[in-house]
Amino acid sequence: MDALQIIGQKPLSGSVSISGSKNTALPFLFSTLLFDKPVSFSNIPRLWDIETTLKLLQDMGCAYEWNKETGKVQIVPQVKNKTASYDWVKRMRAGILALGPLVAKFGEAKVSLPGGCAIGARPVNFHLEALRKMGAQVEVDQGYILASVPSRLKGATLVFPEVSVTGTENLLYVGAFAEGETVIENAAKEPEVVALANLLQECGIQIEGAGTSQIKIKGGNLKTPTEAIRIPSDRIETGTWISIAMATQSEILIENAAGAELAKVLKAYRAMGLKIEEENLGSSLRVVPQDRYEAISVETEPYPGFPTDMQAQVLANMCQAQGTSHMRENIFENRYMHVAELRRLGAKISTDGNLARVEGPTPLKGAPMMATDLRASASLVVAALMAQGTSVISRIYHLDRGYDHLDQKLQKLGACVTRIAQ
Ligand code: EPZ
Repeated sequence: MDALQIIGQKPLSGSVSISGSKNTALPFLFSTLLFDKPVSFSNIPRLWDIETTLKLLQDMGCAYEWNKETGKVQIVPQVKNKTASYDWVKRMRAGILALGPLVAKFGEAKVSLPGGCAIGARPVNFHLEALRKMGAQVEVDQGYILASVPSRLKGATLVFPEVSVTGTENLLYVGAFAEGETVIENAAKEPEVVALANLLQECGIQIEGAGTSQIKIKGGNLKTPTEAIRIPSDRIETGTWISIAMATQSEILIENAAGAELAKVLKAYRAMGLKIEEENLGSSLRVVPQDRYEAISVETEPYPGFPTDMQAQVLANMCQAQGTSHMRENIFENRYMHVAELRRLGAKISTDGNLARVEGPTPLKGAPMMATDLRASASLVVAALMAQGTSVISRIYHLDRGYDHLDQKLQKLGACVTRIAQ
């Protein structure tokens, strides 16, 4: 397993280009199960989660080509086996996104329950209840979701008790094929959901309200896209580079940024005192470090609130602020796995349930750490870059699941980062 060795407190300089959005690319790749002809994509990021998704689709019978240099992917949807096996879904919970397309297109699916992960139990009950309401028979047996549709799926009004990103995405797939109108209440408003809705609209499906809490979808005839579909930039990678610029006290130009989708993240960093200049409607962000940062309070919320996927990164930056900062993690019940690791560098962080308190400014000293989940590993990298001396972060495959060669991008800006085999 690879580890990252980082010698901290090296000032960075230059510009970094943001890769394609992981959480847009994944639902886009699964959407190919809905089509009858090949579909192409561009700007696909080089991530383990992309590899896992392509292998999962291949297991179902699909063929794919992935040119990692150009970021182009072509998928030939030729489904023979409507099963998303545990082997793949245990590595990537987003494998649940095979459920909607298989039920919609083929009226049957056998999809492994994702199982929990480091950040929480991550149930999929909302997905299953919604499918049942639309006429699917859904059971869970020996770790698998078994779904079948005796006749055509019927549009219905589905109310999500909590906002669910992939739950909303699964219903967009199913609503596109169901008879009549499907209404999703308390729908997720994330940009990734809007991007999927826009893709389906461009393929002939009538959808209104994407980006609001009520989405209406009319089942129709889906036309296969003829042009390659470009994956937009990753908003969480963009936010992670703001975190890195602040941690290393470096002026960095972030290009191909998703600044327009980060209002609450920009607000939080500016409230700490960081200077962030936006150009070209947020597609370029220039981050300018300051001498002093103020403590802040942040709550994670569904979009357009502060994203839970930036919680770990900003928690590391709170070590740089004067006074006591507060973080409340409202989305996942166990998303502070990075705190124990940050404490190993000397961070003064205490947690009480979903509340974290951070005392600052606290100088950090490098130490060995262990990554536990994707965004926690990003937080450990931020802290190691901030710390005096050497850190070694093990199990860095967590980082490689969701960041496209972050170590190489850091090296280009002058960071002292080395990937080592452990
Ligand atoms: C998506 O996960 C993202 N993953 C996550 O990003 C992100 O953290 C999360 O949304 C929240 O924004 C992808 O898009 C591939 P949810 P998802 O369903 O859809 C509860 C990353 O770092 N819930 O919105 O799985 C759930 O337990 C990843 O890229 C149920 O109780 O999350 C959680 O508390 C990590 N029952 C809350 O809702 C359900 O059926 C939100 O979960 C579904 C969800």
